[in-house]
Amino acid sequence: MISGQRILITGGAGFIGSNLAKALCEKNTVYVVDDLSEGFKENLSGLPVAFFKKDIRDREFMRKLFSTHKFNCVFHLAASFANQKSVDDPALDLDVNGVATLKLLQLAKEFGTKKFVYSSSSCIYGAVDGAMGEELKPMPETPYAITKLLGEQYVKFFADFHGLDAVSVRFFNVYGPNEYPGPYRNVIPKFFALARQKKPLVITGSGEETRDFTFVEDAVEATILAAEKGTAGEAYNIGSSQETKVIGLANEINKLAGNEGNVQKGERRAWDHISRRLSDNSKIKALGWAPKTKLGEGLKKTFDWFEQNVKGVSNG
Ligand SMILES: NC(=O)c1ccc[n+]([C@@H]2O[C@H](COP(=O)([O-])OP(=O)(O)OC[C@H]3O[C@@H](n4cnc5c(N)ncnc54)[C@H](O)[C@@H]3O)[C@@H](O)[C@H]2O)c1
Repeated sequence: MISGQRILITGGAGFIGSNLAKALCEKNTVYVVDDLSEGFKENLSGLPVAFFKKDIRDREFMRKLFSTHKFNCVFHLAASFANQKSVDDPALDLDVNGVATLKLLQLAKEFGTKKFVYSSSSCIYGAVDGAMGEELKPMPETPYAITKLLGEQYVKFFADFHGLDAVSVRFFNVYGPNEYPGPYRNVIPKFFALARQKKPLVITGSGEETRDFTFVEDAVEATILAAEKGTAGEAYNIGSSQETKVIGLANEINKLAGNEGNVQKGERRAWDHISRRLSDNSKIKALGWAPKTKLGEGLKKTFDWFEQNVKGVSNG
């Protein structure tokens, strides 16, 4: 485990970033930059981190931050999230996910950052029937997928050309505590919000579609491992390599929330052509990672977190 480092986490008040901050803050000095456009200060409560409510596009602030703290390690998670939001506002998506990522890499290079980890997404693969391995040709289908791939390509350029020790991690649907439901959020918090209100879970498709769900603590472990042992310029899938049907997920969530059988078919989202999503996780496994949390166990932990933290929410 990384220790004794000065670490910057962008987007550290968000879902994955706050779980990463929790894992790293005991043995390191952790700084978080987040504009709270999607994240929550509460996600960091009680953690010994220095928090800055700032936009990563604020160039003057970011330059000052890097020059003052000379981070050893940067985990770049801030992003305009995700596919639907990028369809609604592709220019914001490019500005935050594309241009600001490039500027961050420039600062990392200028101020001698030793490790840079960029959070990419499985959506860069597009529609693939079968396991997605890192060697597949990317086929991004939304502005978000395009800019996530763009970020990866900048990471590779900075690694190959400037010698920056930078890697990308491609998250497959991560779930767990600290992800609040909202209009642009993932299926699991949306389903929990509906199930707890005893409303039907709306399935945007046939329900036979599959996704590859990874519990956030496992995803965080893999991300830290990629920082420690990943090869510069490379990308690593972070997924459980388990396929789960959306209807099966809905049933499990309904069972936890006492909302059995309450599902409803909704219209498929126009941009969503992904009927199967399954990671080939052998590359990150070769570095020594294995997902520990089974879906049932992770969903129970997520449900317990909802019960304690999410009061009277809307379903987004
Ligand atoms: N959650 C997943 O399943 C998943 C899957 C694939 C990829 N990812 C990627 O992982 C990263 C983290 O995802 P997450 O689920 O934690 O998302 P999140 O939205 O919870 O976290 C992102 C954080 O970035 C902050 N942010 C957004 N724009 C900002 C800006 N301009 N300046 C400063 N902060 C800003 C938001 O307030 C938020 O707290 C993202 O880069 C995302 O693209 C996540």
